[in-house]
Amino acid sequence: MTGNLTQKDIFPTSQLEEADGEGQNCTDNPTMGEIISRRFSRRGFLQGSLAVSAIAATVGPVALMSAEKARAAGGSAFIFKEIEAGVDADHHVAEGYDANVLLRWGDAVFADSPAFDPKNQTAEAQRRQFGYNNDYVGYIPLGGSSEHGLLVVNHEYTNPHLMFPGLVTVADGKIKQAPLSKEQVDIEMAAHGGTIVEIRKIDGKWQVVPDGKYNRRITTMTEMQLTGPAAGDERLKTVADASGKKVIGTLNNCAGGVTPWGTYIMAEENFHGYFSGKLPEGHKEAANYKRYGVPEGGYEWANFHDRFDLGKEPNEPNRFGWIVEVDAFDPQSVPKKRTALGRFKHEGAANIISKDGRVVFYLGDDERFDYVYKFVTAAAYNEADRAANLDLLDNGTLYVAKFADDGALQWLPLTFGQGPLTTENGFTSQADVLIETRRAGDLLGATKMDRPEDIEPNAVNGKVYVMLTNNTKRKAEQVNTANPRADNAFGHIIEISEDGGEFSATSGKWEVLLKCGDPSVAAVGASFSTDTTKNGWFGMPDNCSIDAAGRLWVATDGNSNKATGRTDGLWAVDTEGAARATSKLFYRVPVGAELCGPLFLPDDQTALVAVQHPGDGGDDWSGHGRPSYYEDLSTRWPDFKPDMPVRPAVVAITKAGGGKIAV
Ligand code: FEO
Ligand code: CA
Ligand code: CA
Ligand code: CA
Repeated sequence: MTGNLTQKDIFPTSQLEEADGEGQNCTDNPTMGEIISRRFSRRGFLQGSLAVSAIAATVGPVALMSAEKARAAGGSAFIFKEIEAGVDADHHVAEGYDANVLLRWGDAVFADSPAFDPKNQTAEAQRRQFGYNNDYVGYIPLGGSSEHGLLVVNHEYTNPHLMFPGLVTVADGKIKQAPLSKEQVDIEMAAHGGTIVEIRKIDGKWQVVPDGKYNRRITTMTEMQLTGPAAGDERLKTVADASGKKVIGTLNNCAGGVTPWGTYIMAEENFHGYFSGKLPEGHKEAANYKRYGVPEGGYEWANFHDRFDLGKEPNEPNRFGWIVEVDAFDPQSVPKKRTALGRFKHEGAANIISKDGRVVFYLGDDERFDYVYKFVTAAAYNEADRAANLDLLDNGTLYVAKFADDGALQWLPLTFGQGPLTTENGFTSQADVLIETRRAGDLLGATKMDRPEDIEPNAVNGKVYVMLTNNTKRKAEQVNTANPRADNAFGHIIEISEDGGEFSATSGKWEVLLKCGDPSVAAVGASFSTDTTKNGWFGMPDNCSIDAAGRLWVATDGNSNKATGRTDGLWAVDTEGAARATSKLFYRVPVGAELCGPLFLPDDQTALVAVQHPGDGGDDWSGHGRPSYYEDLSTRWPDFKPDMPVRPAVVAITKAGGGKIAV
């Protein structure tokens, strides 16, 4: 009925975050792939290619049996019975664990929230309810508890074809999405942003505390302040805001972080998709916006809100793409866009206190060929005085990463006046460097990466894990014959060791922990250990979590029946000893979804995961076999009621009867 059109061809919001273009980085800085190629060609290619052939030749029932034996011998840090990879309408967790839905799109966040009524949804109701497409999940303990705290969740984006009845029609065999009404656009804006809600574990089961005094919804209509070096700059001033310091709302909050002082960090990622219209002819921001892919126009908000129309508010896109900090303990507080951490398609903001007391934020710019960054605060964290930390993020140094051929890592400061970041190159202040962070990185010769997603420091082993989700646009001529992954469809994971074990260091070392994809297909060049079963491998690493024991858990985005014969999920990945690069499948999501979060609570007895965009796919799965939209969904997870649409949700995973997970 739809010819060869896929879900992503038909619905604009289904493909925004795929970064489907060539990337916006036109510099000739070397790609990560080229660097990995050179490393392998010099010292590891022969060994690597033999290992790959060996895997290809031995995967089969016998090899899988020996994998089970290896685990029984205690090689892996994870003890659980792996689930089977596959695709269906439901989610699945390892035997002996419970996976309970904690909060779904439309659920009450306040005691007086209206009941969810999807056929009669309003923006007013949505502002009081849990938003759409939950991504980052954080937890701020109350009284140090792992059973009572504040759950903070980002709502990255909306899928109108899954949210609104009657929007999608089929005529002459073609599926079409009608233009959105103003009320629908306003519902979308209210479904973006974040949620802060008190949660409590009672008799082993997590529950929302609807009258929690910190409960809050943050949306694209919430007033925010721009702070730090770029605040008040001419380039941030608009018709509506002559101060250049006041912004309405936040966009596309992907992953994030929680600080040691109890604030909630929201990373603004694909902000380009919300802008439409044309810059006035010869406008000075034209090159800047081109580097960020602005405007993309996947959303229809400019039809009703002038600030998303470049012709009317040409500076508005400069006010998005920042890191937002929210004081979770003051529901009246104005969230702050911390310009010191740079402007790009921010994936997340995981952070850790360095030995010297300064706080280090690891930041990825999720676009093909873009960069890895970190921010180091100027002042140290003050454990005794919370107030002293509340503006720590306004002063510090932003660095971009250069991964050298020999495994060395350099963090290059993005500081106005240093190196090429001068007036000769069009930077007149630190504000310019921050507003055009990407161009500053270009000039410094940063390494072009394969879409940096989550970057997580590990407090137990002192390393840092970088998820590089994929980059199918890297051409054959950009890699040499030593690297079989010219078209990096499945991504890889890099492990960083900062010099002296000091996260604030300006140099370190790196190596590839894992090249993802099916290890039984030699041409893929995946590097999972031979103990990894046919269920255990994955593609497209995205978010990750380090549990209290220092173990790595990886969530994925982009697996599907067509891509890998499996949905996305949560994989346990060994990083230490003989079991290094062994992966095991613990949880998987319903058809069409990606898995976000994930988060292990401090006692390792709860894993919180965010099932994002369930039902946004299934055209490649025999259980549905056509595009999925409100009236014809590939799944109605998690309610499975005929009058209830599919709903993104946060799920709490616990061990049946209690106890730590996977031990
Ligand atoms: Fe929103 Fe890069 O994922
Ligand atoms: Ca996402
Ligand atoms: Ca992500
Ligand atoms: Ca992703």
